[in-house]
Amino acid sequence: MKVFGLCGSARKDGNTALLMRTVFDVLEKHGIETELYQLAGKQMNPCRACFTCGGKGTCSFRQDAFDEVFRKVREADGILLGSPVYLANVSSSMQAFLERAAVVADMNPGMLRHKVGAAVAAARRGGALCALDAMNHFFLNHEMFLAGASYWTLAFGQLPGDVKADAEGLATMTSLGENMAFLLQKLHIEEEMT
Ligand SMILES: Cc1cc2nc3c(=O)[nH]c(=O)nc-3n(C[C@H](O)[C@H](O)[C@H](O)COP(=O)(O)O)c2cc1C
Repeated sequence: MKVFGLCGSARKDGNTALLMRTVFDVLEKHGIETELYQLAGKQMNPCRACFTCGGKGTCSFRQDAFDEVFRKVREADGILLGSPVYLANVSSSMQAFLERAAVVADMNPGMLRHKVGAAVAAARRGGALCALDAMNHFFLNHEMFLAGASYWTLAFGQLPGDVKADAEGLATMTSLGENMAFLLQKLHIEEEMT
């Protein structure tokens, strides 16, 4: 079993990546493979609304990181999306990914069905719930199962590494990892039985 993580921060190895790695540590303890892909330094353009992705299984525009990322999304059993909070929402690169992934999935129905999804957000102070909603909406209207945690899956921090001081935020990430592993293992057992 594998969980693919997409980090939408403009900063490599910043707070969002740290939160995602905290979730991954738990998943790995449960024997689940993980891969973190950071969009920092990569190009992710917004949807061009050409609607030519039907039957192709990916976006028609191949000159940026989307196709590489979306292949990994399709292959994974679980998807962890992480974004820093920018202007009380997700980063523009995460928004660009969500737009294109949603249109490709709409035009190729069922391609994400029964995967497990979860989202995390790093914020200095405000807007994390809006960012989480944006990512969770993507999972929920593409037939995916959402893993929850002991609190909203956010943590506070401004400079890289600051979230390490948010004990409650880190505990929430650990809880998310446990629940994601539980859900994946249950689904996998059911799958083996059918
Ligand atoms: C363009 C920009 C906009 C931001 N807007 C917000 C905001 O609306 N609310 C907030 O709490 N933090 C905001 N921040 C702070 C980041 O969310 C915070 O520094 C976060 O820890 C960054 O995560 P990272 O290290 O993964 O990039 C903003 C940062 C940037 C660069």
